[in-house]
Amino acid sequence: MPFQTLKTQLARAIAKELAHPEITEEILVAELGTPPNLALGHLALPCFRMAKLFKQNPHGMAQDLCKRLSSPDWEATPAGPYANFRFRAGHLFQSTLKAVLANPETYGSDKSGANQTVLIEFCSPNIAKQLGFHHIRTTLIGNTLSNIYSFLGFKTERINFVGDWGSQFARLLAAFDQWGDKSQLNSKDVPRAMAHLSEIYVRFHKDLEQNPDRLEKASAALKKLETGDRETTELWKSVRELSIGAMERTLKRMHVQFDHVDGESQYVPQILPMLEEVKKKAEGRLSDGAWIVEVEGYTTPALIQKRDGTTLYLTRDIAAAVERAKRFTFDRMLYVVSEQQRLHFQLLFGVLKKMGYKWADKCEHLSFGTVLFGHEKMSTREGRIILLEDILNEAKDLALAECAQKNPDLANKEEVAEMVGLGAVIFGQLSTHRQRDIEFNWKEILAFEGETGPYVQYAAVRCHSLLEKARDKGELSTEVPDTSDYTFASEEEALILELSRFRSALLSAVRDNEPYHLSHHLIDVAKAFNRFYYRFPVLQAAEAKPRDVRLNLVRATQQVLLNGLKLMGILCPREM
Ligand code: ARG
Repeated sequence: MPFQTLKTQLARAIAKELAHPEITEEILVAELGTPPNLALGHLALPCFRMAKLFKQNPHGMAQDLCKRLSSPDWEATPAGPYANFRFRAGHLFQSTLKAVLANPETYGSDKSGANQTVLIEFCSPNIAKQLGFHHIRTTLIGNTLSNIYSFLGFKTERINFVGDWGSQFARLLAAFDQWGDKSQLNSKDVPRAMAHLSEIYVRFHKDLEQNPDRLEKASAALKKLETGDRETTELWKSVRELSIGAMERTLKRMHVQFDHVDGESQYVPQILPMLEEVKKKAEGRLSDGAWIVEVEGYTTPALIQKRDGTTLYLTRDIAAAVERAKRFTFDRMLYVVSEQQRLHFQLLFGVLKKMGYKWADKCEHLSFGTVLFGHEKMSTREGRIILLEDILNEAKDLALAECAQKNPDLANKEEVAEMVGLGAVIFGQLSTHRQRDIEFNWKEILAFEGETGPYVQYAAVRCHSLLEKARDKGELSTEVPDTSDYTFASEEEALILELSRFRSALLSAVRDNEPYHLSHHLIDVAKAFNRFYYRFPVLQAAEAKPRDVRLNLVRATQQVLLNGLKLMGILCPREM
């Protein structure tokens, strides 16, 4: 917020001063970067291009620029071919604190996305089995990004595209036919019923080695499903309902919300006419009895209809995309799906383009690295799966044990442990770059020390307790103190700078579709706060002015941490 605003003001001032048509405010905003270290300043402008336009050398240009741009709000210093700018601490403090006080809970938000709609599809598990740990990345990346988009004024439509049709579902139905226990489906014990489904699903795949003909049973089940066989449809319905209920419970626990839960199945009825359209518009052709579409740049063609006439994952995706384009007007459609499906999405977008849909260019596959399990991919089929619920339970238990040890008198321990456990798991997942593969590791997933969610939560708890004490003593002001004659210490200045940068971090997160920018920023804030906290016993300040300034810093820190964590779906206890 303030930092971004100040950056824009600075860019405007430079553009005005130079008055050259090729040096606009927008270009300058893009060119103003971060210097290699804070001692140099807050923003650095490389002067090479400008020097050329003004027929000067870059060093001279930087010097000239700094001389012409002095201001009470910032300090300008040339360093070789760069002009470095440092906002004065008082100025940063005033603008940041005013913004926090004016709208605490929306501090950091803006309207930059106004009039733009982003469809964001994430989670999208194949149901009939419980959410596994490998579903966590799409779920958290998608949830956090959509929260940030909304916070920045975009209209978002969150879609969970559940896999409730197709060959994997058919395999489950075939397995059920063989080993299924119907009474489980209606039982109140949802986790047990779900475990039963997982068991028979794994058994089906183990059994395949001995009995490869089971695959035919699965194809037959799919055929029955697609032709509306009553018994198969009934079974499908019960399994679907049970699984969606289980999924929704886990999602709710993680504070993940959707606007739409769309099943692949709902696209089946209109698929035949649609296939005709694909064949016509995208030059489909028969190959070996199956229908394919060639996509430019790819040697693998898109398979759109199998020999037996049943539909495919890709076909249902085409139908879903076309339907979404009718249902919504959107500027972007993001699919948060693992890197392993890269080709699938390239082919999908290729077919849509070939069909003549202009909006195909607005579709984007937001991929992320794989969760590895002892170097192997997690797999439900082979039973190499760890349930998401189990991880959340484990995290909570660990947090509970930690609480019992560190703070035995804590009230509502259970609630706190849930928040801290979730904080650890969620934050941990969002502190790796999206594209990186990650190795499943209990220790890392449940870490509370170091750069973790609980570390950030703890900083917020400290802020809360300081503010409560100050409030009790009547020392908490409702106005931003005048700092014109106040000299900020370096720890205070560093903290103000971080607090002012919150919105910049959010803007970077949507620019790169990378939640890591947010988690990283919150760690920086918490660290800057801890340095400040150890240097200054805030409440013991003898004079009113420094105490007031510092309490305001604490207030802003708390707000940034809470707002940031909330965007990730993490709540913060008052005590821990
Ligand atoms: N259900 C699929 C799976 O579990 C992922 C769906 C991704 N989204 C999509 N539109 N294809 O592999």
